[in-house]
Amino acid sequence: MLEKIKSSADYIKSKLSHMPQVGIVLGSGLGIYVDEIKNKIIIPYDDIPFFKKTSVEGHSGALIVGEVYGVTVAALSGRIHPYEGYPMEEIIHPVRTLGCLGIKFLFLTNASGGINTHFHPGDLVTISDHINLTGKNPLVGHNISELGPRFPDMSNAYDKELRELIHEVAGHHQINLKTGVYCSVLGPSYETPAEIKMLRTLGADLVGMSTVPEVIAAAHLGLKVAAVACVTNYAAGIKEEKLNHGDVKKVAEKAMIGFATILSETISELKRTGKIHEK
Ligand code: HPA
Repeated sequence: MLEKIKSSADYIKSKLSHMPQVGIVLGSGLGIYVDEIKNKIIIPYDDIPFFKKTSVEGHSGALIVGEVYGVTVAALSGRIHPYEGYPMEEIIHPVRTLGCLGIKFLFLTNASGGINTHFHPGDLVTISDHINLTGKNPLVGHNISELGPRFPDMSNAYDKELRELIHEVAGHHQINLKTGVYCSVLGPSYETPAEIKMLRTLGADLVGMSTVPEVIAAAHLGLKVAAVACVTNYAAGIKEEKLNHGDVKKVAEKAMIGFATILSETISELKRTGKIHEK
């Protein structure tokens, strides 16, 4: 497995003059963030050894490396999900590859259903913690000790300091940003109203089908992680409407401006405070 990660990383390295310090995972409808990245090199997943192409509409499937405020970032535009039938090892392969390229920070985004009744479509929410109800953990199997420990700590998986910085940035730009616990489910069917009621009782504010495997892999790698969800719909049973992926994408695209500001300005602050450097 380590050989596969190294082989993906070596291919990417051969295309770059600067290694990324920040990784970004762009979820459904948020792929247009790549427009914010300057001097970019686009590497289709198809060209990268051991990268899988996503089958979901709205996920384009390319690694984009370029600059945000002069900092080299690598954005995974399009991700694969456990419900597509890929093994967990494949799901986390791109994040592990970015880890191998030397990123220190990982920003993840996703489209989520709002369980908390104070959340509305279009809201942006920083994830403070998660509940993994996929029934799977991507670290099951032989531990690759070169990547991280057998039993990684998850108590600060969504880095508190980074979350506080994101909230400061959002406040400074008058962007309404909420906080919540994300519950990941396997999908691909959306949840039933009874399941949503159960998830609320368990303490979940958001529900979705991604992010958690990558966050576990990132915690294993020792990366500082932040995740911002875009609430694209009320979770099942909260309103009378039916859920569909087209609406999910449209709402996420509308929330893009606030999201882009939060992400780019946070990167700028990390640079200003010396946590990452130019290029
Ligand atoms: N449930 C699960 N995943 C989702 C949802 C939802 O309501 N909205 C966007 N992704």
